[in-house]
Amino acid sequence: MDVRFEDTIDTTKDLLVLGIFQEDDESSYEFLNTLLAKELQEALALGIFKKTYGEVYPTKFPGLGYRRVLVLALGKKEEMTLERVRRLMSKAVSSTKNYKLESFSTNILSLIETTGKISAEELGRAAAEGITLANYSFKKYLTVNPENIDKEIQSVTITWMKDKENLQRGFSQGKIIGECTNFAKDLVNEPPMIMTPAYMEKIAEEIAENKNVKLRVLDKKDLEEKGFGAMLAVARGSEHAPKLLILEYNGSEDGSVTALIGKGITFDTGGYNLKPTGFMETMKCDMGGAAAVLATIKCAAALGIKKKIIGVAPMCENSVSSTAYKPGDVLIAYNKKSIEVTNTDAEGRLILADAMAYTEEKYKPEIMIDLATLTGACVIALGSSISGIISTNKELQEALQRAGEASYDRVWPLPLLEEYKDSMKGSISDLKNAAATSYGAGAITASVFLSHFVKESKWAHIDIAGPAFLLEGKDYLQKGATGTGVRLLSYYFLRNS
Ligand code: BES
Ligand code: MN
Ligand code: ZN
Repeated sequence: MDVRFEDTIDTTKDLLVLGIFQEDDESSYEFLNTLLAKELQEALALGIFKKTYGEVYPTKFPGLGYRRVLVLALGKKEEMTLERVRRLMSKAVSSTKNYKLESFSTNILSLIETTGKISAEELGRAAAEGITLANYSFKKYLTVNPENIDKEIQSVTITWMKDKENLQRGFSQGKIIGECTNFAKDLVNEPPMIMTPAYMEKIAEEIAENKNVKLRVLDKKDLEEKGFGAMLAVARGSEHAPKLLILEYNGSEDGSVTALIGKGITFDTGGYNLKPTGFMETMKCDMGGAAAVLATIKCAAALGIKKKIIGVAPMCENSVSSTAYKPGDVLIAYNKKSIEVTNTDAEGRLILADAMAYTEEKYKPEIMIDLATLTGACVIALGSSISGIISTNKELQEALQRAGEASYDRVWPLPLLEEYKDSMKGSISDLKNAAATSYGAGAITASVFLSHFVKESKWAHIDIAGPAFLLEGKDYLQKGATGTGVRLLSYYFLRNS
């Protein structure tokens, strides 16, 4: 998509998207066209258009050389936020698509600039994210008439910005972040028959073409030699061999290491504790954590983040066969702790346990952040608009919360309560992998389990089970994969490196 920043009206574009603040007088459009100002005045008087945030008015009078002219209500100046910028841009994109047009021009950003509420750089970043994310669709398997398929927007013109330089810088960052989020969406939307551990390795190889990124892969044989007993057990029921993918991003020669670990279950049937109909259908989303980690490494490299970041993706499929692991099996994890399998559907924590213990030993990260579509309990607690975060370090947790607010890829804290610390104690083993259903607090007990596989590192666990995959689209997020975690971590690294 081509973007231009112009000082004059670009009438070569299909659609003009004008903004109006609640405080604004409709006469403010007389400088463009008196007829348009009149039409707006009439629409407001008749009540077919209101100036409250989010309202849309398609004008009758195109004029000005555009095929269409649309007015978006920006709401009160005082209430303008980065997220409103994203949603307004997303509205411009969806309107352009609905009109079957391919380009738009807008003065909205320059209007928001005048409020002084948001810096030009942040404004540019959020706008680019809104546009790029809204412009996404997953259509590679559609064979219907191309006329019926959403065309992507080809070009955008942003007019009349004062601080063009900072806007442009923010915009190119936001474009990278948006594209990497879309890249994660593509990975998660891919059918599970294609998205296997070996397929993900190919993806990681492509990311490692960047000169600052190196890929290490531990194959099944390496995992056996190194003693990844928990991860290997999960993979045992599948014809697809497990892989531990490690992307080392070297954005700085010195300074501490941050490790990201993403759950990479390419499909979660539940294993012998089989998921019932209604719960299994969306389970290709269960590698959403791994997708977010790989996409974040790609993003960090493209943004030139000055930090050492290790991205780790344990990949396997949780399937059923005569070779699959069973309830009652006792596994020896990488750190030698024994685990009784009390539920084969609690597989995510098993692969994360090995991956986290190995990563800490090998890379000595100061900070470890894991992302996982880990528990249905987290979806019950928080729904699909926000992820859960559980951390052993207040500062890290708050930094992630702030990055979440700014990017709107948000996280909400759950407590690692002292009272629940024994919930995962085994009876014939050190640990069991699932607490009794009656125990409750499923999102917390899962992290209690994970906490046994972290020693020194500051650690945050992010449960993305809710927001990673949507049954219905909203604003710039489509039905299906959302790329949750990519914006959160990218903002986190932009602010903390
Ligand atoms: N992948 C699921 C969690 C999940 C649920 C992700 C809904 C996305 C949407 C995970 O492996 C799982 O099955 N968790 C179990 C754990 C239980 C057996 C202790 C759950 O949440 O029911
Ligand atoms: Mn499961
Ligand atoms: Zn799972």
